[in-house]
Amino acid sequence: MTIRLEPTEVAAGDFSLRPFTAADEAGVGAALADPGILRWTAGTAVIRTPAEQRGRKWLATRIDGWARGNAVFAIADSATGELLGSVTVRDVHRIPDQAVVAYWVSPAARGRRLGARALDTAARWAFTAPTEGGLGLHRLSLDHALVNIGSCRVATRAGFLLEGTMRDYYVESDGTRHDSHLHARLSSDEVERP
Ligand SMILES: CC(C)(COP(=O)(O)OP(=O)(O)OC[C@H]1O[C@@H](n2cnc3c(N)ncnc32)[C@H](O)[C@@H]1OP(=O)(O)O)[C@@H](O)C(=O)NCCC(=O)NCCS
Repeated sequence: MTIRLEPTEVAAGDFSLRPFTAADEAGVGAALADPGILRWTAGTAVIRTPAEQRGRKWLATRIDGWARGNAVFAIADSATGELLGSVTVRDVHRIPDQAVVAYWVSPAARGRRLGARALDTAARWAFTAPTEGGLGLHRLSLDHALVNIGSCRVATRAGFLLEGTMRDYYVESDGTRHDSHLHARLSSDEVERP
């Protein structure tokens, strides 16, 4: 089931989660110059796009992703509005009461657990009842290639428990296959803020 989501903003102290706009093109383009963001989060279509057009290509399906059941948040600095990263809650209710999450943090903003804090914020919002502005979901899952150790730390810190290893799950744009961890967090899990 694909549902239309209402674009939403969530304040969280030194950062906020907000929808992307066309004005983020340069910031996203700069983020996609990071090999890790490009490799693990961009997708084949963006990787095959010339570097100078990648920001626009990436945004083309993200700005209006909300209309297709994908809550695509920019992580923005509360004081300056600077784009710091992204966290996505996608495929909302494709499986009833569930969604899948993904994240990246710009290289300049790394080292202060922003990925875990933004992921935790997005999860709490997704678990909040629709009557209180959330999505009312029960289970959020994510996967990361085993070699992506930083992503594993982010997931664990944000309360996404390791559920197992999916063999050859992640396929890179060049065809390389990676075993991946499956992590998930339930609305009933008690999680300390990272
Ligand atoms: C993964 C990512 C979001 C982490 O950024 P961040 O939130 O700023 O992470 P931090 O630098 O604060 O580090 C968070 C934790 O990961 C650890 N970590 C980060 N990079 C690491 C690496 N390359 N190897 C091992 N550990 C690493 C840190 O030591 C820290 O551990 P702690 O929580 O136990 O203290 C960022 O590196 C990124 O955007 N990577 C590329 C995109 C990506 O891989 N996204 C996930 C796709 S599944």
